Amino acid sequence: MLSIRSLFTSALLALPVALATGINDFDCESSSNPVVLLHGLGATYYEDLNFLQYWLQNEGYCTYSLTYGAYEGFPFVGGLKAINESAPEIAAYIREVVDKTGKPKVNLVGHSEGAFQSLYVPKFEGVSDKIDRIVAIAPPTHSTTFAGLYELAYILGNATRAVVGDVLDTVGCAACNDLGPDGPAVDRLNDGTPIAQPGNNITIIASKTDELVTPPTTAFVHEDGVRNVWVQSTCPLDPVGHIGEAYDLNVWNLVKNALDDTPDRKFVCLIGSPGK
Ligand SMILES: *[C@@H]1O[C@H](CO)[C@@H](O)[C@H](O)[C@H]1NC(C)=O
Ligand SMILES: *[C@@H]1O[C@H](CO)[C@@H](O)[C@H](O)[C@H]1NC(C)=O
Ligand SMILES: *[C@@H]1O[C@H](CO)[C@@H](O)[C@H](O)[C@H]1NC(C)=O
Repeated sequence: MLSIRSLFTSALLALPVALATGINDFDCESSSNPVVLLHGLGATYYEDLNFLQYWLQNEGYCTYSLTYGAYEGFPFVGGLKAINESAPEIAAYIREVVDKTGKPKVNLVGHSEGAFQSLYVPKFEGVSDKIDRIVAIAPPTHSTTFAGLYELAYILGNATRAVVGDVLDTVGCAACNDLGPDGPAVDRLNDGTPIAQPGNNITIIASKTDELVTPPTTAFVHEDGVRNVWVQSTCPLDPVGHIGEAYDLNVWNLVKNALDDTPDRKFVCLIGSPGK
């Protein structure tokens, strides 16, 4: 285990990881709701959405994030636990942010599994009254292929691929099973009652060129209170893929528009990061 940890540490040091400095600052002041970010499968609070988090801070938001769904002994690989085990961790964190910031409600921004949780947690964990706006980037709402999902566990990239494989061999990937076809968490989220909870305003952002959460329309929720947005409706030339969605300035601007409820605010589209 020691060797796995040190391997991870050296792998992480090799990545352009922006380590926590200004995040999770409960004294942060903003006129907007605190923003809680939920990372994807295989990631942690300081990876995946970390660059978006810093960008949002520069835009004037106070941001908060946690690593959820990690097994003891493997703190660097989050989101592996079953969805219904991670969900209470996330709900507890939302309550903590509300308590410590003194704001009545937070906004949620999730990517991939984190986006799925941004829909699942308000529905099942009794915190929907503490949430205002939800921005879900590429949630596998109605499931995706198991093969694609398993790939998400490697979101950290090549540097740690072998190590992540070790972790998966040891603890498995309950979340992968949960989010696949007929996965228990997918079935529960789609149990015939609304996904959108009263008072929650949901924006779902998906890319037509998402190669992992497939088909990309699986993300969308066709209910009142939900706005479904293709990246390409605003930025037709953005070929962004699933992992790239977390690092794509066009997506970030769409997130900002959703948080501010200014869906028609114009911004200059960049040609996004292609592929993953
Ligand atoms: C949580 O979900 C798993 C499937 O991923 C299921 O086996 C388990 O029974 C669920 N636990 C509870 C308490 O509902
Ligand atoms: C990952 O590894 C593959 C094959 O070894 C290589 O083609 C690809 O460029 C690598 N990707 C990154 C992001 O390093
Ligand atoms: C979502 O926001 C829009 C615009 O602010 C508002 O008209 C609508 O009632 C909100 N929906 C919910 C479910 O709160």
